[in-house]
Amino acid sequence: MVHLIEDIRENENVNLDEAVRIALTQVEGTYAIVVISKNHPDSLIAARKGSPLVIGVGAGEYYVASDGAPLVEYTKNVIYLDNEDIAYISLSQGIKIKSINNIERTPYIDQLEMSITQLEKGGFEHFMLKEIYEQPKSIADSMRGRLNVAKEIVSLGGITEYEDKMLNAPRFTMVACGTSWHACLVGEYIFEELVRIPVEVEYASEFRYRDPIINEKDIVIAISQSGETADTLAAIELAKEKGATVIGICNVAGSSIARATHAGSYTHAGPEIGVASTKAFTAQVTLLLLMALSLAKKKGTISRSRYHEIIIALESIPRQIEEVLSHEKLIKEIADRFSNAKNFLYLGRGYNFPVALEGALKLKEISYIHAEGYPAAEMKHGPIALIDEEMPVVVIATNKGTYDKVVSNIQEVKARKGKIIAIVTKGDETVTSLADYVIEIPETEEMLVPLLATVPLQLLSYHIALNRGCNVDQPRNLAKSVTVE
Ligand code: G6P
Repeated sequence: MVHLIEDIRENENVNLDEAVRIALTQVEGTYAIVVISKNHPDSLIAARKGSPLVIGVGAGEYYVASDGAPLVEYTKNVIYLDNEDIAYISLSQGIKIKSINNIERTPYIDQLEMSITQLEKGGFEHFMLKEIYEQPKSIADSMRGRLNVAKEIVSLGGITEYEDKMLNAPRFTMVACGTSWHACLVGEYIFEELVRIPVEVEYASEFRYRDPIINEKDIVIAISQSGETADTLAAIELAKEKGATVIGICNVAGSSIARATHAGSYTHAGPEIGVASTKAFTAQVTLLLLMALSLAKKKGTISRSRYHEIIIALESIPRQIEEVLSHEKLIKEIADRFSNAKNFLYLGRGYNFPVALEGALKLKEISYIHAEGYPAAEMKHGPIALIDEEMPVVVIATNKGTYDKVVSNIQEVKARKGKIIAIVTKGDETVTSLADYVIEIPETEEMLVPLLATVPLQLLSYHIALNRGCNVDQPRNLAKSVTVE
């Protein structure tokens, strides 16, 4: 880039500002760059396409960063650059923003909502542990102002004007990556049960490269903690090109995905620093529940009594998570027993299938133990061959409808001497009598179980990783925001 800019400046006889602009019309791919010249030490030129870039505006000073977190210590005033925007920042003349096509726009100053204490460990040994423990609050925050149990109101301001369009859609397509993709899977079950509109869940990376059949009537729901995941962003652009309406569920305000979508709602889980996602997942599921409840009520696919039962149960979730967190000591003992395992299998059915996937992903990410999540009934089609006395099998066995089937799966594992760690509903007897280790979660609606059952699995992974001496907050080879393909 530096050589290209220099070449343009010399050959086309233009100043540095113009040379950078022309250079950016010639490059391919994504970028976030800052250009500074030793001849103009009081000026910066910043530009982005695809990759995130935020400008902090202080008193007589400016900052450029990839997101708001490092800026909050210095200023809460920020300017988000749009794709293919260039900011010319000068100490004497302030900020001027132009597109690479030379169209000027007025800089808009946003306020960062995060505070410095949110970016500190607050007495916890790791950010991940802090974020696991924040879940009662982060879930309450994601419901605040949106759920009013007394008035029986669920309302997501960010999507209200799109609700009719959503209800007329032939189907919803949910796209995301990683943990956010698991939230989509829970969302699929929730939406189909409550709103009775078919849902497809796609990895953003697959969706974007396979010429999907999407048209103007389609609703695409994109979920992302960071709001910067390159594949999810590209999937959104593709859906928009095909005329679909794209609704975002993001955690980071002002992020690229939040800005690229037609409408959406923030999860308000607060900054998530640990690379392995925890509180963002439960907030995403909460948002999907609120969205589905609001749509179902409008469409008339939910009875008043059922609606009431679910919102009452939802309101209790933060308190119930406190109860789950109180089992940390027991979970640590289980972690101590299995920290040397080479493989783990996670099984669940229905709403607990995505929980199994998420539990396995968490363990892989931070402890580097190979783990697989499976729908429990699929065990007989392959994974059962892996089971021996060395194999810990985590079973999320809270289901009402398919409880007996899950019990059979547990018996199959026991017959092959596998070790069962079961997540059960408080007061459970049958699974409790069969399992080697049992972690209880409070009774709730089946569709809310992922909000509770994920938490002990997060703690289990955390303690196993800690026992193995792994870097919990920054696991090897992983990144918090994957802004490249
Ligand atoms: C990375 C992170 C995961 C996250 C995934 C999707 O792989 O390490 O924790 O789930 O990206 O990120 P997003 O920000 O789009 O939710």
